[in-house]
Amino acid sequence: MQKIDKAWWQNVLANTENLREPIVLPQVFENEVDTLSELTVDIFRKLALARGTESGFRVWVSDEHGVIAPEPTKAYDDRLCDNPPLPGESIAQWGKRIFGDRKFGIIMNDGQLYSAEMNQQIARKIQPLLDLIGMPLTGVSTTYFVGNYGYTPLGIHQDRIGEDVFHFHLGPGPKVMYTWDEELYKSISGVMNNRTNIEELLPAANKYPFEAGDIFFMPWDKYHVGYSDEISLGLTMWINNPTPAFFIRKLARSILGEITPIKNHAVMLNTVLSPDSGIPGDPKIFEELAPYLQVDEAMADLSLQEFMQLSIENYRMGLLSNGGFVLLQAPEPMAPDALLGQTVQLVQPFKLFHIVLKHKIFLFVRGYRLSIAYHPALPGLLERLNAGEPVAVADLIEPLLGEWTEEVARYVVALLFSHRGIELAGAAQPAHAPAYAEQLAVPA
Ligand SMILES: [Fe+2]
Repeated sequence: MQKIDKAWWQNVLANTENLREPIVLPQVFENEVDTLSELTVDIFRKLALARGTESGFRVWVSDEHGVIAPEPTKAYDDRLCDNPPLPGESIAQWGKRIFGDRKFGIIMNDGQLYSAEMNQQIARKIQPLLDLIGMPLTGVSTTYFVGNYGYTPLGIHQDRIGEDVFHFHLGPGPKVMYTWDEELYKSISGVMNNRTNIEELLPAANKYPFEAGDIFFMPWDKYHVGYSDEISLGLTMWINNPTPAFFIRKLARSILGEITPIKNHAVMLNTVLSPDSGIPGDPKIFEELAPYLQVDEAMADLSLQEFMQLSIENYRMGLLSNGGFVLLQAPEPMAPDALLGQTVQLVQPFKLFHIVLKHKIFLFVRGYRLSIAYHPALPGLLERLNAGEPVAVADLIEPLLGEWTEEVARYVVALLFSHRGIELAGAAQPAHAPAYAEQLAVPA
């Protein structure tokens, strides 16, 4: 028995040519299947209750001839939302209740939006891998696959460029993945995505059967199709490496986010811009706009390249502070006085990061960027917490005092707490969190 630690991941890297070839890692988390399945049911329930069908469920159901087709009327989508999983019901039981004897498939994207606890479970497993290979620039995300649909309804296909996937199989049914190398697939199939003659192409495929408790890894460039005949649940975790064009668009959007038009200003209510004078180079329009254009003072003098570089750093620090998850759990405000006399510690396996920019410091806490006034003792405070040991709040804030009052210093610690970067030391861990690592097997 071994932990999923650095050595375990080094072994995986060695056996997959650094994540360029697929592999089945058998019985890696068999002791956690129940816990992860329960957390998944919670996620589906939350999504159904929120009627989150847009970012949520994609449904396929077999017709009266047994042929799987995308559900055309959204009726099943509605039925899923109207009938969330009951307490104690498994995903397989829920599927049977909704779809009866029909074959079905449900894909749910962006699962990381719905469970901080699941994210933490996954982050604990993959943090040592990310320490080895680096943080993928668009982070990690999760998608769930449920059903007994036979071959993946999408047919043989390639996933999005750069998005490598770890499939944590939760069962109860097994699954088989068939893969083809890109060149081979293109030489034997006339079409890019193939739903019709899957079986003809299977003899040329590599076959990867797996069952509950196994992890299947596949790099993005393999053509593939899955096969699940009995109801099963798959938790897939995606390592998202973007193309330069995709990443530049993302950065451009984040730069836009730094520019805030000043609204709710009394003058705005009865002010309109003058018409264009028609004179090339006339600065008038910009001069009129300038009073309503708000950019953080610490960033106001940056060139485009410096702005871009800062956006990259902001983005990286956000990901690094949250185990690679881009999307976030809303903070829960906390009164600074609640920290009086308390001892706190880092929420593992996450870490706190910072950027100093002129008179400001950006603190990165579980994906959030908090912008506060710079204090020279703040980097040391973060370092102390990152060491992972419990520390009394009074000791932690001591180096801030003098320049700051106790109330202000405690307020900053409360910010870290409300954004889930730290917790009370010895606090009861979430009910689902098992002593996971010790129970994990070595990959074959
Ligand atoms: Fe796929």
